[in-house]
Amino acid sequence: MQQYWWQSTVVYQVYPRSFNDTNRDGIGDLPGIIEKLDYLQELGIGAIWLSPVYQSPNEDNGYDISDYQAVMAEFGDMADLERLIAEAKQRGIRIIMDLVVNHTSDEHGWFVEARQSKANPYRDYYVWADPAADGGVPNQLQSTFSGSAWQYDDTSQQYYLHLFSQKQPDLNWQNPQMRQAIYDMMNFWIDKGIGGFRLDVIDLIGKQPAQGITGNGPELHHYLQEMNQATFGNRDLLTVGETWGATPAIAKLYSAPERHELSMVFQFEHVGLDEQPGKSKWDLQALRISELKRVFAKWQTELGDQGWNSLFWNNHDLPRIISRWGNDGQYRVKSGKMLAILLHMLKGTPYIYQGEEIGMTNRVVHDISEVADVESRRMYAERLANGYSPADILHSINVKGRDNARTPMQWDATEQAGFTTGQPWLAVNPNYATINVAAALVDPDSLFYTYQKLIRLRQNNPIMVWGSFELLATAESVFAYKRRYQNETWLVVNNFSNEPQQIDLPAEKVETVIIQNDETELTSLANLQLTPWQSFVVKVAESDDN
Ligand code: GLC
Ligand code: CA
Repeated sequence: MQQYWWQSTVVYQVYPRSFNDTNRDGIGDLPGIIEKLDYLQELGIGAIWLSPVYQSPNEDNGYDISDYQAVMAEFGDMADLERLIAEAKQRGIRIIMDLVVNHTSDEHGWFVEARQSKANPYRDYYVWADPAADGGVPNQLQSTFSGSAWQYDDTSQQYYLHLFSQKQPDLNWQNPQMRQAIYDMMNFWIDKGIGGFRLDVIDLIGKQPAQGITGNGPELHHYLQEMNQATFGNRDLLTVGETWGATPAIAKLYSAPERHELSMVFQFEHVGLDEQPGKSKWDLQALRISELKRVFAKWQTELGDQGWNSLFWNNHDLPRIISRWGNDGQYRVKSGKMLAILLHMLKGTPYIYQGEEIGMTNRVVHDISEVADVESRRMYAERLANGYSPADILHSINVKGRDNARTPMQWDATEQAGFTTGQPWLAVNPNYATINVAAALVDPDSLFYTYQKLIRLRQNNPIMVWGSFELLATAESVFAYKRRYQNETWLVVNNFSNEPQQIDLPAEKVETVIIQNDETELTSLANLQLTPWQSFVVKVAESDDN
């Protein structure tokens, strides 16, 4: 398989609104990111996934774009963005622009035109349908943000489709002029020297709403091949698609190099494992480690060399991993290190979400007035109307709500965590006095330095990028696997629990300890009692016949 820079790099996601505020308005901004580039360089990352910075009325914090070629005023201006791209480049960091092409804001010029009349030239850039025979919604399609996906428009007496908020009308990818306008816009950004695109809910662009098809529609891969040819093909950029519902077979369609679509997928199979099957993300069940092992092992082995995957625990839509599957009390740092080591030792491109590298945790809310996120607020209203108790709904929000990831970055122990000297747009997590970047940087045992070390290891050890994968049979709560590459074998062992666990690997001869999260001596792996959340990677000697 041909090798690309994005296979051996580590990406860091910045959610600009919550990263660093430099003008005291309580909202993170582009100069704020520039100010922290040295910090990111020290961490060692090679690319920044920049959540949307385009002009937007912020119904969904920038995932509702009203002008693709203008910068959101709160974040700065085009000159700031160009400076960010240039300053990052000087530090060996590429800027991956998050781009939303499944829908726009209802305040985008195209939609403002489109809703004027049925005859408007932009009408067909969006998806319209007549009312059903009874005058109601055209069909039963639901919005991800609760309620019907159809919104009635008085002027033309038709409905328009919005798979997210009604302020996020879906673009009609069946329209070739619309597609060309998107490609022209993408080329505008490519010409600015960006490092690639993260394509928001790209699995939805092949939708066929009349048939009730949203994800993985029949024309999806045709559109992506067309996009590739018209824009980033042959440009050596990183392109990552947010691909809900991808299986390894579907991931190959997106990312097999000879198909000329995207560099890699960002798929969510593991993320759904603590949700009740067939229900929504709010309907919780306990995570079974055996299921997590099965899903990771499946992706590691089935993708083979015919596609490329992302590795992540977190992003701006997900709760903080240490609160979710680790231990955010006594073992916060140790479980954080275990989760980091487990993930970064796998094959794929690792993504770190801002604050993950210092072990930020979920923030607890006690009232819906403390919640900013449109998704949580809509769900709250819908479930309240359906008879759920406020306490029940708030529990789901505390466990799964997107604000958990969006509280301001915790830089130091000063007021507002050093994020702003004004009033932050979303309250900081009260634990900032102990969990912050300044404290992590002065502590050689901090989680930060585990992430830094994992990134360096990846740069220097092709086995992490290219090695094969073998899951070992162990106790339920132990996640152990081997990577092999050119006569080298690494053994990765993780205790995914608060309890000690036993492993017994008498045949393994430890040559070197690559990384570990406690002080245990690792000379023999026979009858080894693992401490809670223990994690280690050792290079082992293997004879040809074992
Ligand atoms: C993606 C984004 C999410 C956004 C949605 C609609 O899932 O990650 O934040 O709300 O798409 O654009
Ligand atoms: Ca600001």
